[in-house]
Amino acid sequence: MRKIALLTSGGDSPGMNAAIRSVVRGCLSYGIEPYVVYDGYKGLVEDRIEKVSRRFVSETINRGGTIIGTARYLDFKKSEVQDIAVNNLKKRDIDSLVVIGGDGSFRGTLDLERKGIKCIGIAGTIDNDINTAGYTLGFDTALNTIVDCLDKIRDTSSSHHRCSIVEVMGRYCGDLALFSGLASGADIIITGAKKYDLNKIYDEILEMKNEGRRHVLVVISENVLDIEEFKKNIEEKTGFETRASVLGQIQRGGKPSAMDRVNGSLIGFEAVRSLKDNKHNVVLYLLGKKVVGKDLQESINTSNFDDDYMYEAAKKVG
Ligand code: F6P
Repeated sequence: MRKIALLTSGGDSPGMNAAIRSVVRGCLSYGIEPYVVYDGYKGLVEDRIEKVSRRFVSETINRGGTIIGTARYLDFKKSEVQDIAVNNLKKRDIDSLVVIGGDGSFRGTLDLERKGIKCIGIAGTIDNDINTAGYTLGFDTALNTIVDCLDKIRDTSSSHHRCSIVEVMGRYCGDLALFSGLASGADIIITGAKKYDLNKIYDEILEMKNEGRRHVLVVISENVLDIEEFKKNIEEKTGFETRASVLGQIQRGGKPSAMDRVNGSLIGFEAVRSLKDNKHNVVLYLLGKKVVGKDLQESINTSNFDDDYMYEAAKKVG
């Protein structure tokens, strides 16, 4: 009987459980034995692999996080460590692996593919930093969480006539900042993907203050600048009372949105169907109503959504 193993790796993201559920149930519907690996590549190396039943994934579609755990396991870059993982799969006659994760995770997936394991990647990360034309699993939920927080911050910022600067996640990808900024009518969006001039930004904030704006909302990607320093400079250069917030881990948790559940369910099913038909070495993603694949190697790259057009639109309507 054919066997497929499944793991989640890197930062968890809402919708991963929908994908896990779909892979497990997709396998069973085709007479394939599903196996889960606990805590990502770490569990794969430590041989924590278990055959699961249909009930294992009952009542999980609406839950955030990942029921099989995840890890950031830097040792997996070593070829000899990867060999242990390959061996743990092969001794159970498992020749196929589904990896749900982000950019960093897929580097390991590519290595396993080169070592003879048939791999499929499911782009699961809130960052949207996989180079596909679709949205990564969890991006939609995280985006909605951020927009909800920005709306709340704006309420109080407006009441107090303040400038608010809010740092959002994304690692080195600006999509969460760009999309949430556009969705919440932010005045200024700063990401690492687009050049910015801090002196120009102080001038713009001063101009808004002089226009009598009740508040100014600035959304910033993490890893771009020190927001405490930025807050201090805004106050000094513009006289606008400012508050800085780092949204942090709250962005990654919570119930997956309907779109992330659909995304995970369809891609999980397609991952099984592809492996059954001996198709692998791809990252799957949802494009419209269809699941399509992109070469694993080509997908390991930052997102291509940071385009001038979106920045321009956000600037004009912010
Ligand atoms: O990759 C998802 C992500 O949430 C990034 O946006 C962020 O930079 C990172 O993970 C934080 O990771 P950790 O929770 O391990 O500190």
